[in-house]
Formats: sequence, structure tokens, C-alpha cells
Amino acid sequence: MTAMKKALITGITGQDGSYLTELLLAKSYRVFGIIRRSSSFNTGRIDHIYQDPHDPDPKLKLVFGDLNDASSLNKIIRTVQPDEIYHLGAQSHVRVSFDVPEYTGEITGLGTVRLLEAIRETGVTTRFYNASSSEMFGSTPPPQNEQTPFHPRSPYAAAKVYAHWMTVNYRDGYGLFACNGILFNHESPRRGETFVTRKITRAAARIKLGLQTKLFLGNLDARRDWGYAGDYVEAMWTMMQQDKADDYVIATGETHSVREFLDEAFGHLSLDWKEYVEIDPRYCRPTEVDALLGDSSKARKAFGWKPKVRFQDLARMMVDSDLELESGLLDRRTRNHEVLER
Ligand code: NAP
Ligand code: GDD
Repeated sequence: MTAMKKALITGITGQDGSYLTELLLAKSYRVFGIIRRSSSFNTGRIDHIYQDPHDPDPKLKLVFGDLNDASSLNKIIRTVQPDEIYHLGAQSHVRVSFDVPEYTGEITGLGTVRLLEAIRETGVTTRFYNASSSEMFGSTPPPQNEQTPFHPRSPYAAAKVYAHWMTVNYRDGYGLFACNGILFNHESPRRGETFVTRKITRAAARIKLGLQTKLFLGNLDARRDWGYAGDYVEAMWTMMQQDKADDYVIATGETHSVREFLDEAFGHLSLDWKEYVEIDPRYCRPTEVDALLGDSSKARKAFGWKPKVRFQDLARMMVDSDLELESGLLDRRTRNHEVLER
């Protein structure tokens, strides 16, 4: 009988970490996830698949660690001896990276090197996936593919370029099976509430329910290639199963503006966003990435990956989910109110 494969995930509590964990558990992996200590619960996205550690044979285990703490990473890798490492942890918010550039470099850039060094130092034989980003293309005009030069336009993007090239360097220099997935924006109902798509779908739902009257946004002209996170974690896993490690662009090949996303999301609820949206310069960035449009023909040719969920369905899926979530919250609030009144 072959032993179950072991995967270690950094960033397991994030959007992608949660979808990837579901995928790996469905493929009968044992999954180990690194979480950081927080004063409030930070496992909301994986609570539905959490397994009691008192279970005699849990398939999902969470361990404390931090990308800022090399000794914790070394210890975890030595103890777990993973077959595959998916490195998704990062300070991943571009606008915030202008406020905390040093921290972003520390976690998003150097955090990756700490992991790579931990693999080298422990001598554990493992495959390594690094979450590279289309943000690295910055001001280089679309369409973008693996040959397109990087021109980072944020501290986040600069940190990702460093992590990307260090991953290539460990592949070339030490023969590590290391892949960079250059993923374009991908969204879902689990997307963090401060990224533009989720901010919009949540606001549309709340406005429809009478819980909010305004939505403050920054640059509405930016264009992104938005896909669905569930499709993108399949690409991560598939590139890690190839005979040879390589770098791949993962994208839908369609680009839309923030304005078009507003049309789609508010339109789905028969609302006109122009009545509610105001521009607040605090959500603009000192340097912007104007247009992203990915060409993922390399991944398609190598392992047949293509996106299943398209722009309109993605926006609608997110709005429907937020409407359900906010209606539930509304119910609960009404119920609490009734309890208080009694
Ligand atoms: P996300 O939802 O922001 O999740 C980030 C994860 O990193 C969270 O689990 C977070 O933990 C963890 N983390 C942050 N700082 C850490 C630290 N110091 N030590 C350990 N863990 C830490 O991001 P995502 O959207 O899932 O994206 C996953 C990865 O892909 C990120 O590296 C991101 O930069 C990259 N990426 C994302 C996209 C996209 O469109 N989503 C596109 C290209 C690349 P907490 O939950 O405790 O905060
Ligand atoms: N967050 C946010 N909030 N963005 C806004 C707003 C707002 O109020 N108003 C306009 N935007 C614009 C941003 O200026 C940007 O051009 C676009 O909407 C998308 O912003 P985000 O959703 O924050 O995503 P991002 O493209 O900056 O970064 C995401 O995608 C990258 C891949 O290209 C993140 O997930 C990164 O981690 C990821 O690497």
C-alpha cells in the first residue's frame, strides 16, 4: 500500500489556502497548515474542514509558525517531512504594502527565502510551489506571459519579484523541484473583504438589504484579468505533478475594468452603482498597475489547464454569496433585537 502524500501549506487560512486544502484532502493527502497566533480566530475559511486534533488520525493538522521566524519553519519542515510545499503565505495587499513596505519585504520576500533555506538545511526531499503574481508585470503592457519583463509598481510586487527569482535560483542552483505559479487576480466568495471585487459585491448586497448607503472606491479605470480561485488552485496542484519544475502564467485571457465589475455586480441586484459609489483618494495607489491580461497558453499546452468560471458568473457567484451572508447576519441581528426587547 502506498503512503498518503503529505502537503505543507503556508497561508492555509487565506482564500487560496482554504480551496487548496479542500482539493488536497479530496485527493487523499495529509495536509499540514502553518497558522500564526492571533488574538482573535483567524481560521474562519477552514473551520468547515477543521478536524479535531484528538481524532486518532486527522488528515488536516494546523501548526503554529510564522514566515518571520526561520526556526519555526525549519522545525516544521523537519518534523512534517512534506512531499509538497505550497507557499501561499504573504502580506498580500498591494495598497497596504505602500504603508508597510519594510514588513512586506520581510514577509513576502524574505519569508520565501527562509522557507527555501529551511528545505536546503533540513535536506528534506520535497517539491515547492511559490505563489508568484501578475502584479510583478506592473507597467509592462498586456498581454503578459512567461517571457514578459517584470516592472514592479509596488513594494508588494518588488517583494514578489525577489521571491520569484530566488525560487528560480534554488531550482537552478540546488536542483530543487520548484515552480512559480504566476497567477493573475483570482476571486471567490472567500476573497478578503478589502480587495476590490469582494468590497464591491459585499457593498452591493448590503445596499440591497438597506445596511449601507455608500461605497467608497479608488481608481475605477484599472483593468484586471479576474478568474475564480477554485480553478486556480487546481493549476497549482497540476503544475506540481509535472515531470519537470517550471514557471507558468495562470489567467483567463479576458480583461475588465473595475467599472465593468461594478456594472456586473450591482446590475445583478438591479441596482445602479452610480447612485452609491464615491471616489476616495485614500484607496488610490502612488503607482498603479493599469492593465493586466494574461496569456496562459504555456500551461494549457503543458497540462491542459483552462479556467471554468468566467467573469460574469464569478461576479454573480460572489454577489449571491454576500447576499446570503448579509441576510443571515440581518436575521441574526433582528433576532438579537427581539431578544433584547423581550
Ligand atoms: P490572502 O487571502 O491574503 O492569504 C494570505 C495568507 O498568508 C493568510 O493565511 C495569512 O494568515 C498568511 N500570512 C500573512 N502573513 C503571514 C506571516 N507573517 N506568517 C505566516 N503566514 C502569514 O491571500 P490569497 O489571495 O489567498 O493569496 C495567496 C498567495 O497568492 C499570496 O502569496 C498572494 O500574494 C498570492 N497571489 C494572490 C493572487 C490573488 O489574486 N488572490 C494573485 C497572485 C498571487 P492570516 O489569515 O493569519 O492573515
Ligand atoms: N483594494 C481596492 N480597494 N482596490 C481598488 C479600490 C478599493 O477601494 N478602488 C479601486 N481599486 C483598484 C486598485 O487600484 C487596483 O487597480 C484594482 O482595483 C484591484 O485591486 P485589488 O483588488 O486590491 O487587487 P490587486 O490587483 O491590487 O492585487 C491582487 O491581485 C494581485 C495579482 O495581480 C492581490 O490579490 C495580490 O495579492 C495579487 O498578487
